[in-house]
Amino acid sequence: MHFHILTLFPEMVMNGLSTSITGRAVKNGHISIDAVNIRDFAENKHGQVDDYPYGGGAGMVMQPGPVYRAYEHVKDNISLRTGSDDNNQAIDTSDNVIENKKPRVIYMTPQGKVFNQSIAEELAKEEDLILLCGHYEGIDERVLEMIVTDHLSIGDYVLTGGELPAMVVIDAISRLVPGVLHNDVSAEFETFHDNLLEHPQYTRPEEFMGKRVPDVLLSGHHKNIEAWRKEQSLQRTKERRPDLLEKRGQ
Ligand code: ADE
Repeated sequence: MHFHILTLFPEMVMNGLSTSITGRAVKNGHISIDAVNIRDFAENKHGQVDDYPYGGGAGMVMQPGPVYRAYEHVKDNISLRTGSDDNNQAIDTSDNVIENKKPRVIYMTPQGKVFNQSIAEELAKEEDLILLCGHYEGIDERVLEMIVTDHLSIGDYVLTGGELPAMVVIDAISRLVPGVLHNDVSAEFETFHDNLLEHPQYTRPEEFMGKRVPDVLLSGHHKNIEAWRKEQSLQRTKERRPDLLEKRGQ
């Protein structure tokens, strides 16, 4: 999986994603992360990329030109890597078109569809993802109409920019890429699988400040452990996220 982030703050996303599991996944070659600075594609020598909104109003709007050129730059790099032409058509040795796929461009915005685990699973199947991060009052609508394929929000609140949301989305997708997590089975049993929250977990010591690990987990009886965990999952979901149980019924 190759992530390409169009941003005014490349160091913010690169610093955030270069540690922990995503950092290790980059080092091991399971994913790549490339942050492109939209300011590098400014028209003027001052590197200005925003301007006043037509029609008036508060704040500044990111201009379409720098965003479009940054996008073209990323698309060219993808074509170079995959050996495809300008229309992103991969050409095999007998000149047959073997692929015709433009990369998905995800605009991080509170106006988007709210991101969840099933969207992460769907996006994890892509080879390349371009994430576009806005700032100020947003981005000129014309370039959004031209390049954006998906609008994604990470929740109903407004952040100062799309960088943290892009990092959230990249983290959630990366851990689904084969090889990134060492234990392949875990994704099947974790929170949100089957619209259930995960059961509680315990490790040593057996007793901590007077609180004991539930006996069933020490019993070695796998069927009973499985049943207990399922019951805990249901109970927990009922208490904390009853909305998920409604979805299960659908
Ligand atoms: N940009 C600002 N707020 C956002 C949010 N909640 N989700 C995605 N992008 C955003």
